[in-house]
Amino acid sequence: MIEQIKEASDFIQSKGVTQPEVGVVLGTGLGNLFVEEIQNPIVIEYHHIPHFPVSTVESHKGKLIYGTIAGKYILAMQGRFHYYEGYSMKQITFPIRVMKKLGIKNLLLSNAAGNMNLDWKKGELMLLDDHINFQPDNPLRGLNDSTLGPRFPDMSQPYSKRLNDLLTTIANEKGITLHTGVYVSVTGPNLETRAEYRFLRNIGADAVGMSTVPEVIVANHMSIPCCAISVLTDDCDPDNLNPVNIEQIIAIAGQAEPALTEVYKELISRM
Ligand code: HPA
Repeated sequence: MIEQIKEASDFIQSKGVTQPEVGVVLGTGLGNLFVEEIQNPIVIEYHHIPHFPVSTVESHKGKLIYGTIAGKYILAMQGRFHYYEGYSMKQITFPIRVMKKLGIKNLLLSNAAGNMNLDWKKGELMLLDDHINFQPDNPLRGLNDSTLGPRFPDMSQPYSKRLNDLLTTIANEKGITLHTGVYVSVTGPNLETRAEYRFLRNIGADAVGMSTVPEVIVANHMSIPCCAISVLTDDCDPDNLNPVNIEQIIAIAGQAEPALTEVYKELISRM
């Protein structure tokens, strides 16, 4: 894997990506406004990058975008890879390893998630304070390369307290609702049954989605401080569950995108 990481990062560097400080992963329905904020962008399509998987979901664009926000060099993934698409956990998290090799010092993630906390509403944002890995695999399974990170990484604080405190302050200042809670990752691609939502709520999760946790595990493995925000796209009350479709989820994500963009932009400027 080390050789593949090097080949991918050499290729990306050869396109002018020389000093990224912050990595950003843009989730379902969240890859538009933030990208428009990136100054002097260099755009690289995933399918040109050696060893990069190619995104199969239509709503995911599949581009790396490099440029500045508030004077800081950022490298954004417009579209990510999901386990339900058929990739291995190692493939899903390969771009995170490459971003680390390129020099990122912090990682900002986002996703669309189902809301199981009945005190909250769809369209609002949730800052991940912790997670439950409910996917049946782990990107660190197999031989460990100790040049990348330890065999048994600590996960007592998977999300950076510094970044989370800053985000909470920023949201307060801007009057943006930013709940704090626990995200559970599932495989998908189907949404959950009523019994599954009830179960996931009972084990302590506030939001449920199909991504993010593998990337956060790998970020922790490589000691990259990270944070993640869920856009709550559908209300998952098992006693009052409406059918939902992906178009609705994407539409709600789009409505929440300005708030997400604003808090992440401000975080970058204060980092
Ligand atoms: N479940 C799983 N993933 C999701 C959901 C959900 O309800 N909403 C958006 N992503």
